[in-house]
Amino acid sequence: MIPESFIQELLNRIDVVDVIDKSVPLKKAGSNYVACCPFHQEKSPSFTVSPSKQFYHCFGCGAHGSALSFLMEYQGMSFLDAVEDLAKSAGLTVPQDAVKISPQAKEKNLALAEVLLLACEYYQTALKKSGRAIEYLKKRGLTGQIAKTFQLGYAPEGWQNLESIFKKYDDDALYTAGLVLKNDQGKLYDRFRDRIMFPIHNMKGEIIGFGGRVINPEDTPKYYNSPETPLFLKSQELYGLFAARRSIREKGCALVVEGYMDVVGLAQFGVMNVVATLGTATSAFHIKKLMRQTDTIIFCFDGDLAGKAAAWRAMMNALPSLTDKVVLKFLFLPEEHDPDSFIRAHNKEAFELMMQDAMPLSQYLVQYLTEKNHLVTQEDKVKFLNEAEPILKEITAPKLSLLLRKRFAEILHLNDQEMDQLIQVAQPQFQSHKAQMKTKAKLPLSMKRKFILLLILKPQFAINEDLFLAQYDTYEDDLLKKVLEIALNLPESKPSSILHGLKSKIDYSVMDLLQEELTYFDDQIHFESEIDGARKMLLEQAKASKTRAHFSALKDKPLGSLTEEEKEHLKMLTQRPKKP
Ligand code: CTP
Ligand code: MN
Repeated sequence: MIPESFIQELLNRIDVVDVIDKSVPLKKAGSNYVACCPFHQEKSPSFTVSPSKQFYHCFGCGAHGSALSFLMEYQGMSFLDAVEDLAKSAGLTVPQDAVKISPQAKEKNLALAEVLLLACEYYQTALKKSGRAIEYLKKRGLTGQIAKTFQLGYAPEGWQNLESIFKKYDDDALYTAGLVLKNDQGKLYDRFRDRIMFPIHNMKGEIIGFGGRVINPEDTPKYYNSPETPLFLKSQELYGLFAARRSIREKGCALVVEGYMDVVGLAQFGVMNVVATLGTATSAFHIKKLMRQTDTIIFCFDGDLAGKAAAWRAMMNALPSLTDKVVLKFLFLPEEHDPDSFIRAHNKEAFELMMQDAMPLSQYLVQYLTEKNHLVTQEDKVKFLNEAEPILKEITAPKLSLLLRKRFAEILHLNDQEMDQLIQVAQPQFQSHKAQMKTKAKLPLSMKRKFILLLILKPQFAINEDLFLAQYDTYEDDLLKKVLEIALNLPESKPSSILHGLKSKIDYSVMDLLQEELTYFDDQIHFESEIDGARKMLLEQAKASKTRAHFSALKDKPLGSLTEEEKEHLKMLTQRPKKP
């Protein structure tokens, strides 16, 4: 592990503007720099980089982070590579034991990600030694190169193979990471045995779980996956997204398929902008995650009935998160194929042609709703309306919603008014995303919130006494406490490194809002006096509320039980201030 203090120092040394400007040319705009956002497609720049705060923030898609996260998100670097890269340009050396984990990994209390990485390395080595596993992959048309790219491996036969690489086979981390299981007698054994291993990465490129495929066709289940763990939430992760990010951005489009083999197989043929769900339905979360990378999403599920059902479910889950910027499309393969088998039976060009011809959402909806309904009788039309209604109600993207209603009305030979009477959908919000963000961020900040922002921007002005202000029990106090912890420890930090320190301690949503408020925060001010002023006001508030609490405690006591001193105090508190 890289010590947190090193990361902080690194972020303090480098300039986020230089780092980003190398890949995304920035233009000066006031005290900030702007560009068209590299994380989503847009025509006018909403991507802002702040030299004083040392982070970037996009008002369009919400992407934000430090120089470190930029390298990981945009360049697709792993965490370690990004740290190395920044360290090099800052003239720092990454602490050596941080990079090479292997020998240290035999220590106890390993972090989950480390444990999984070690297991992955072991499976990769084991693959090289297993003629049978290599032969299987070859038979499926995969080259060694693609196996390496996807870090494919092999979990050999046997019950306790992982014992050979972990000193403590009974380390909790192995169990929590889902690598070992416990039998009824409490004996531990490897979860994955005699399976081809597909490591699953998160957006940082860390391994968070595995999918394991049998080699013998008669073994069951065909795929066996890591369980959900603190690192691995299946409804939120997409297989292949880390590797595909670059291509998704370059092509302006992401393809969602069903299987690991589809991702790897398509990549083998040079189609790289592909991700798969992890044996679960496509969730709203998946869609949002993809919408951060691109605005065209194509679902390409297997040609069988199950694939068709999966497409419908994916669509229904996607509808509420759709915006008018996003284009959803559907690609239906011939019944006997999945994407992997199709591209092998044909070629890349044939597959890409099909991608270009994928069916847009509106067409898919109409086709689906009229597949078994020829709209001849009035009853047919009622049925159509009944099926269309819940779909229309899920869509909040204003233009899409309106146009779909019009299209449905046309099909039924109704005019718009009649359609409105028959199906009432909530009035879509016409306010743009950008405008919404602005109103949200422009809400007046509470004094404590402002104080927190000021301290993130200028931690050197934090003092020990500020901890007194964080004594109460609100969410804000908790945040203040965390900011103070970092600020008092490392008063020389830049805002980006304070945020980096906060990241693991607070919720994503809190982080998002904080970033946004910071971006809007006017930093052409005299910080010292602002902080001092805010501190004084908060101190008074804190004292007043303490007095109030004291007063109500005294008031509730029987008068006889009060000490002389308390009586005096109560009298003082109840006296009205004299008018001058
Ligand atoms: N899956 C799973 N558990 C199973 C079967 C399937 O988790 N018992 C998930 C896997 O993520 C798998 C996906 O569903 O990749 C699609 O299944 P399938 O189409 O059967 O697998 P393919 O990836 O096409 O694999 P192959 O071509 O090797 O059959
Ligand atoms: Mn397949």
